Amino acid sequence: MTRRLLLGAFLFHPGGSHVSGWRHESAEPHRHVDIDYYAEFAATAERGVFDTIFLADGLYFWDRFPSGVDHYGQTRLEPLTLLSALAARTQHIGLAATISTSYNEPYHVARALASLDHISGGRAAWNLVTSRYDEEARNFGGDGHLDHALRYERGAEFVDLVQQLWDSWADDAIIADRESGLFADADKLQVADHRGAHFAVRGPLNISRPPQGYPVLFQAGGSEAGQELAAATADAVFARALPIAEAQRFAAGLRERVVAHGREADELAILPQLRPVVARSAAEAHDLASGILASTPAAIIVEDVAHSIGQTLSDDPDAVIVLAPDTDISNESRSPNRRLARLQAGERLTARDLYAQSFWESVTVGSASQIADEVQERFESHAADGFVVQALTQPSGFREFVDLVVPELQHRGLTRTAYEEGTLRERLGLARPAGRVRVGAASSSH
Ligand SMILES: Cc1cc2nc3c(=O)[nH]c(=O)nc-3n(C[C@H](O)[C@H](O)[C@H](O)COP(=O)(O)O)c2cc1C
Repeated sequence: MTRRLLLGAFLFHPGGSHVSGWRHESAEPHRHVDIDYYAEFAATAERGVFDTIFLADGLYFWDRFPSGVDHYGQTRLEPLTLLSALAARTQHIGLAATISTSYNEPYHVARALASLDHISGGRAAWNLVTSRYDEEARNFGGDGHLDHALRYERGAEFVDLVQQLWDSWADDAIIADRESGLFADADKLQVADHRGAHFAVRGPLNISRPPQGYPVLFQAGGSEAGQELAAATADAVFARALPIAEAQRFAAGLRERVVAHGREADELAILPQLRPVVARSAAEAHDLASGILASTPAAIIVEDVAHSIGQTLSDDPDAVIVLAPDTDISNESRSPNRRLARLQAGERLTARDLYAQSFWESVTVGSASQIADEVQERFESHAADGFVVQALTQPSGFREFVDLVVPELQHRGLTRTAYEEGTLRERLGLARPAGRVRVGAASSSH
């Protein structure tokens, strides 16, 4: 089969993936809890024949720093509720919900995703995260976030259990035969009876098997433990934007892990972030990107950098940072921390310098053909199997990507021009998992 570039449309903040995207002249910040706003986003993604939309999510409101309340545009709709509504207003696109394994229960998640899969005709997907912040723990009876290793251990048991629950019923278990009065075939029912380190769940699930067998599983952890979980279980993994050589190494390493888990190397699609800023000319795109960066309030610059390096900073974004010797932020994320590494290497940098460096490193700026070149090179050199497109501003940044870059990708034969029939899983070329029902397993109790 020819390899096709996969595209996901990612909504990080409702106003765009840049924290001040909501301030852009095209933005509509008063519509962040308006279903029509999201339906328009999904329609734009379907117009660009994207594989899925993704809604980023966290179980907290980011108020650790004053700028979180003052300047972030964080209020949003809950993803599963929103995607259920979007299922009725879209036809083809995958619907991926970010759901945490640290602050949920497998039975609820299995049931909700199975429902979304039925409602959408086989288009549900799960972006599995283990969550990052103490703020999330505090909303679920804890003080601090679960330990990093423990939450990945819990995540692995969680996903296995959810899949067992999806296998509660064989595909043909529901008979609903009026004549005989037989509704379900007990021989095609499997009770999970799971007792593990983190969960005890009997099952079975009270919904028939999802159309896709298992809704498609995405994962995003970049740490060793995160990569292991993805290699063992996921259909696709999101990755941070990296320089191409590093992205190739990261992808090759992940594919080795996939093989070590007894899977084919290409069973896991690797989808790095793509944060495009596109305009008719490279100079115009550069101006656009500079304007977005310049719209970031100083308080966000200081507090974002303070948070990412784990120490308090002065209010002045132009003060040279003196690194404190004893900070430890490793329980939030163990993905490589470039800002900290630069300071540790002795570079004399201000918060504004560090913020701007990460901004320019994370974005892909240019004309449509320049962005398409970058995408093509990364795809053909196996640094990526596709991308999650995180436009910095909504709706304009994403609309421009679809209007300018997508036709260029289609013209080059990298992406399709129309949807094929079928479920999301089928369109992604993924096998439908056979159920794990042991025939006769439940009949002994009758
Ligand atoms: C493209 C991308 C999108 C992500 N989206 C989310 C998200 O919506 N919610 C979340 O809690 N974490 C999100 N993450 C973070 C990871 O899931 C993970 O929590 C983080 O990388 C820390 O885990 P690690 O220590 O394994 O890196 C995202 C990461 C990437 C690269």
